[in-house]
Amino acid sequence: MPATFTKNALLLSLLLSFGLGQAQAASEPGPTALATRLSIPHPAVIAHRGASFDAPESTAAAYKLARDLGADYLEMDLQRSKDGVLFALHDNNLQRTTDVASKFPERKDSPANAFTMAELKTLDAGSWFNAAYPDRARPAFAGLKILTLDEIIDIAEGNPLHKPGLYIETKEPKQFPGIEHDLKEQLQSRGWLSPVGSQTAKNEQAVGQGPGKVILQTFEKSSLELLQKEMPQVPKILLLWVGEGSIEPKSKMTFAESGAKDKAAYYAAQQPKDKAEFQRWVDYAKAQGAIGTGPSAALTQGGDQSYSDLVQPWMNQYTHEQGLLVHVYTIDDAVDYQKVMDAGVDGIFTNRASELLKFYKRPAAASVAQVLQNNGY
Ligand code: G3P
Ligand code: CA
Repeated sequence: MPATFTKNALLLSLLLSFGLGQAQAASEPGPTALATRLSIPHPAVIAHRGASFDAPESTAAAYKLARDLGADYLEMDLQRSKDGVLFALHDNNLQRTTDVASKFPERKDSPANAFTMAELKTLDAGSWFNAAYPDRARPAFAGLKILTLDEIIDIAEGNPLHKPGLYIETKEPKQFPGIEHDLKEQLQSRGWLSPVGSQTAKNEQAVGQGPGKVILQTFEKSSLELLQKEMPQVPKILLLWVGEGSIEPKSKMTFAESGAKDKAAYYAAQQPKDKAEFQRWVDYAKAQGAIGTGPSAALTQGGDQSYSDLVQPWMNQYTHEQGLLVHVYTIDDAVDYQKVMDAGVDGIFTNRASELLKFYKRPAAASVAQVLQNNGY
């Protein structure tokens, strides 16, 4: 075979494979296209426990504020009461965010699921906020109640001008066998699982009326699998962090052994065991039908929501290459909004929906104070 032929054939084959490679890359939907296809705003504003910087977390004041500011999603941690009612609460027990110690002193350390919904409704879930944050305190926060999922749905549906979606985490789901099924039943009974046209989805004002109106999230692999079984059509996010039950760390050193000055410094030094370990979790999320991951972030100011940096550019790039989105938790400062956006995330969980909306050049029409006042707080 003449050498020139071989050379030309090689060149042709290189050109063809390069062209084909480019065509394949071009046909892979990027994260913006993926989010659009799923009717999920991009980048998404996820109001973490409501607008919980400005009002007591997971209460009507926080969720109505997030809704009326224009957040895309109301985030909540789902639990189930002793008598089977689904409600929103982050912590395993009621001590930090309610007056359980004075109302039920002998049961103050009990898990929240040891209380009936009627008992939970007797608790004051607002006064703790006034005491903890006097500069943001409001008399009307005192006496706010723990909310059922049903009540949060009412809030999500309650503003004719802006309908946010729901971003629901099964919290410690092993404590609540069957909660994935209960959630499906309730969403179904409220019409939140009915198929809808994609037209409204493109309208930022109507996330809660489009196909991306519910996103389900969990740290637990088993719960992701059950959510997928119960609600295969609903978008799901696998939450990620470095530590027990999630990504294996490079160092097994405990906080006490590490000598770190605080938990944030300890977590910031935590890294996945290796690249393959991170990739394994992303691959698992995809294999189970998740549409993305919810990784932690290390915050510039530290604090109790600062964890391992799982939104490094290579991590986001790998996740995007698998056709998945990245929604990072939980970020409140502009310097960190910028940092994670530069790193390539597709949405942010924030306690400060008003600030994130400003950052995304989608400022709310009214101030936080005005909205709170309009809602009677
Ligand atoms: O759900 C995302 C983020 O909220 C996870 O952290 O502990 O606030 O539920 P956590
Ligand atoms: Ca959560």
